[in-house]
Amino acid sequence: MQTQMLVDEAVETLQSQIDDTTIIACSGGIDSTVAAVLAHRAVGNLLHCVYVDTGLMRKDESDEVAHMFSDLGIELKVVDASERFLNHLSGVTDPEEKRKVIGEQFIRVFEGEQEGCGAKFLVQGTIAPDWIESGGGNRDVIKSHHNVGGLPEDVDLVIVEPLREFYKDEVRAIARDLGIPSSERQPFPGPGLAVRVLGDITPDRVAACREACYIVETRLQAAAAEGRCELPWQYFAALLPVRSVGVHGDARVHGETVVVRAVTSLDGMSAKFSEIPHDVLAEISTEITNSLKGQVNRVVYDITHKPPGTIEWE
Ligand code: XMP
Repeated sequence: MQTQMLVDEAVETLQSQIDDTTIIACSGGIDSTVAAVLAHRAVGNLLHCVYVDTGLMRKDESDEVAHMFSDLGIELKVVDASERFLNHLSGVTDPEEKRKVIGEQFIRVFEGEQEGCGAKFLVQGTIAPDWIESGGGNRDVIKSHHNVGGLPEDVDLVIVEPLREFYKDEVRAIARDLGIPSSERQPFPGPGLAVRVLGDITPDRVAACREACYIVETRLQAAAAEGRCELPWQYFAALLPVRSVGVHGDARVHGETVVVRAVTSLDGMSAKFSEIPHDVLAEISTEITNSLKGQVNRVVYDITHKPPGTIEWE
């Protein structure tokens, strides 16, 4: 179907579903941004867009999202809840538990916002792979995506999911059609850096992962712009709670490990690891170990396809 028709149909459906004040969590990611623009087209000022800074976002992300919404002409309320999220995640190491905590805190923050604006509806940017991989139909639960499995059952809002039947490539096409500048941004998981900080989530470890992700992103974008490699579909770093010995000056220091992940994919359902030239990987490794001296002393590259691996580590 033509993208314009998909947009018209989605807007019409939203108009038939929503008849009162509505709230949406905008992460700045392509899914929630497309959902917000569609909902804004459908119900205009009935829609309240809220951006929750969980403390688990990428470098400069909050400012960029605020600018994007301002350019789209949609009002965005920014709520800084980073302390709350990091406090609740303290001591939680199980990945599914982290997702549950994040999902729950999201909804608690929303309850506050909902009370403020009296929202009766909640628009979510759930796309097909989210619910298929969360155990839709008779499939096994692979992981509970925070916008599906992590929702508490007592949520007092009608949930509307305009992108539920769409795959990532379709959402990208719609984003381009709607003039959303993030349409070429790589995907970023809803629970943010929490899925890339394995083990304990502490402010220091989140900061290290954020910096490593930033280095991978900027180095690979620069290498692609210089024609040294293709820009992968998704590329990032994860921080592993694996300590190994390294040398720092004259001393032997036990530092943690960063894994670099870069994949080509169409929709995230399957993926191949990207063939990044070794000299580009070497630059990434050197910058990470220099920037995170004393904290990270080893960088590895993940050469696993999906399946059998997933794209994220968790
Ligand atoms: P996996 O790791 O399952 O990821 O191979 C497939 C794609 O989904 C992204 N991802 C998420 N996106 N909420 C999201 O909106 C989530 O909880 C989530 N977990 C993973 C991942 O980055 C990849 O693009």
